[in-house]
Amino acid sequence: MTTVLAIDQGTSATKAIVVDDGGTVLGLAEHPVRPAYLPGGGVEQDPRELLDSVLGAGREAVARAGTRIDAVTLANQGETVLAWDPATGDPLSAAVVWQDRRSEGVCAELDGAAPRIAAVTGLVLDPYFSAPKMAWLRRNVTGEGVVTTSDSWIVHHLTGEFVTDAATASRSLLTRLDDVEWDPELLELFHLGGERLPRIASCDEVVGHTAAFGGRVPVAGLVVDQQAALLAENCLAAGEAKCTFGTGAFLLANTGASAARSTAGLAASVAWRVRGETSYCLDGQVYTAASAVRWMQDLGFVRTAADLDAVAAADAGGVLCVPALAGLAAPWWRPEAKASFTGMTLSTGPQHLVLAVLQGIAAQVADLGDLVAADLGSPLATLRADGGLTRSRVLMQAVADLAQLPVEVYPSQHATPLGAAALARAALDPSLSLADAVHPWDPSTTYEPRWSADRAGDFRSRWRAAVTATLGQEG
Ligand code: G3P
Repeated sequence: MTTVLAIDQGTSATKAIVVDDGGTVLGLAEHPVRPAYLPGGGVEQDPRELLDSVLGAGREAVARAGTRIDAVTLANQGETVLAWDPATGDPLSAAVVWQDRRSEGVCAELDGAAPRIAAVTGLVLDPYFSAPKMAWLRRNVTGEGVVTTSDSWIVHHLTGEFVTDAATASRSLLTRLDDVEWDPELLELFHLGGERLPRIASCDEVVGHTAAFGGRVPVAGLVVDQQAALLAENCLAAGEAKCTFGTGAFLLANTGASAARSTAGLAASVAWRVRGETSYCLDGQVYTAASAVRWMQDLGFVRTAADLDAVAAADAGGVLCVPALAGLAAPWWRPEAKASFTGMTLSTGPQHLVLAVLQGIAAQVADLGDLVAADLGSPLATLRADGGLTRSRVLMQAVADLAQLPVEVYPSQHATPLGAAALARAALDPSLSLADAVHPWDPSTTYEPRWSADRAGDFRSRWRAAVTATLGQEG
């Protein structure tokens, strides 16, 4: 029996679960971490708060489970970076969150190199990824210490090691997609040539040991949160896709062993490197999903996310929303884009705006599903879904209607830590195949499309016209 403490250090919360071999969650704790939204597109977190939440949630989950653990694993936000002192472990900057747009200028300066960067990394030159934010930190905050993704800092505190994993490194714009190594030319391009960089570990590796949660145990199975959910949802074969509805919504499709670049404007990165083999994925992003809901809460449209379905009108009354509250990602890659509502009249109420936001998120997800299908060369058969917002039946039905796909909801709210736990088990038991490390599951609900293809097509063309209009206004 292998019992794993799996910690999902996300944008809005750190969740820790203690899970056994059979996938039973023995203990659970969640600590919120609220980012600060700054003028000019800044989104920051206090690194100490992140670390405290990892330690606090982890210890609470272990105490609640009342059992010993055999390993600790960590899923991370992917592209959130900070500067820190490797001698003391002290942070030297705030954590600059993946949603932060302040490195737009860094990207603009490198615009001429964007095609070359895309060819080498599989990624689009955008502030979303790690390197522009690392360069921005170096230019604007500090030249001291090291500058890394948040996983390296947290794992350093747990183990003393200086390490990241292949999936996280592949989100940096600093690694070659084909062999997942740091690329000196890319480092020079971002003026990061002199940086000390963490070792890139496989996702099924024991990277060190920690006594932070009780007895000394291995730390193993490091991965990006989105990739962890892809794994938990059993998207092991090329063409299988999931969308996680968290702070943002992230649609990922497994593309197998080929490091194929997207021709549709998506990002290509590492899903995981396990047993010496690299699996790849394509992803598209809706930067604001739960954070758009939180924004509606702040404005008083809904009291909590649980109220969404009760508040949302049955029909948006002609209101359309482009929920680009933190810019637009694939396939537009317009960090400066702003959100818009169109079609409002004096009779428009919060209920229409709430539905319009949910439909706007769903329309973006539907577009991403089409782009993934275009890259894969065949339509998706289904879309698997997880994350807090899957509790909104209105949102899930809108995704099914607009994507014209069955949406299969993962039966647990813990896809990300369960995926990371599977990697930790694979790390501890080299005889275990990845497929055996992941638990089989049946959807808690399957949403079938109720709209006709014509109705979905009509809505989506109107929605895309609203996107074009929004982008036009940005100049
Ligand atoms: O790329 C950012 C993403 O992985 C963050 O996930 O769950 O914190 O919204 P989440």
